[in-house]
Amino acid sequence: MDDTEKIISEAETEAQEAKSSRALYEAKMKFLGRAGKVTALLRGMKDIAAEHRPAFGKKVNELRERLEELFASHEEKVKARELAEKLQSEQIDVTMPGRKEEKGALHPITRTRQELIEIFAGMGFEVFEGPEIESEYYNFTALNTPADHPARDMQDTFYLSDGFLLRTQTSAGQIRLMEKKKPPIKMLSPGRVFRSDDDATHSPMFHQMEGLVVDRGVTLCDLKGMLDEFAQVMFSGEKTRLRPSYFPFTEPSVEVDVSCFACGGKGCSLCKGTGWIEVLGAGMVNRHVLENCGVDPDLYSGFAFGMGIERIAMLKYGIDHIRLFTENDVRFLEQFKN
Ligand code: DAH
Repeated sequence: MDDTEKIISEAETEAQEAKSSRALYEAKMKFLGRAGKVTALLRGMKDIAAEHRPAFGKKVNELRERLEELFASHEEKVKARELAEKLQSEQIDVTMPGRKEEKGALHPITRTRQELIEIFAGMGFEVFEGPEIESEYYNFTALNTPADHPARDMQDTFYLSDGFLLRTQTSAGQIRLMEKKKPPIKMLSPGRVFRSDDDATHSPMFHQMEGLVVDRGVTLCDLKGMLDEFAQVMFSGEKTRLRPSYFPFTEPSVEVDVSCFACGGKGCSLCKGTGWIEVLGAGMVNRHVLENCGVDPDLYSGFAFGMGIERIAMLKYGIDHIRLFTENDVRFLEQFKN
């Protein structure tokens, strides 16, 4: 029992060296644990003469109490230090500016396409989408453009294996729909089209929006009225005019101009001094086309129109090169955030 002070100073050294509460606990167990020094002393009691046992027991108890106090006071210090360290490492600076979440925007083509659909959906049109790989029949023949027809040269076609091609126009959708559905028809057909063509205003892939109306007694006046409504909404209050033109699938055929929204019709660089901007092709559906689809041209008549979505978007947003639509430069795209 003369070792009491030695044991205490050993415990003090070990407790001081313990840098974490885990290490401190292990140090404590060396003295107060089941295999610790104090327990060993108690176990040794049986070898001590009976008359010395009470005094010995008292001393061991005192030793245990002192060790418990010793470790308790170290525990307090270690815990306080650990808490301080934790608070320090988990500190957050609430004044730091937050990380900005950049919001995306609809692509100008998607957006223009949606605007167009909204305008025509308001007039009762429904959307029908045809395939991008099309047969010559739907893309040309049924549209009154047989193999030897000169108008096939108006569109530089990408041919695939025999009889198939990448559609050059969404007009093919007119045939597909009329084969399925009997009049009255009010169809809008948006989609990608392909032509071997490449400059500032043409790209090998672009988008069109096709329209078709077939019913009894449909006239060119109906087309004109509907186009005026379209021009009003799309280009805020502009007028339209029809110019004679030629498409194999319409008779008569027209090209549609809207009065220049940049100069109000006075003449500027956008409208090349004419006061008018060409926006789409249209016409009364050629009776051969109706016949090809099993629609009786003596009972029904219709009009059709087709426009380039890129062209509409370029005019509306003042975009000067068609390639901007496919380069996907964020600096371009982010200008279309609402
Ligand atoms: N398909 C024609 C083109 O790509 C555009 C067009 C003109 C569509 C007149 C029509 C139409 O429906 O009636 O050049």
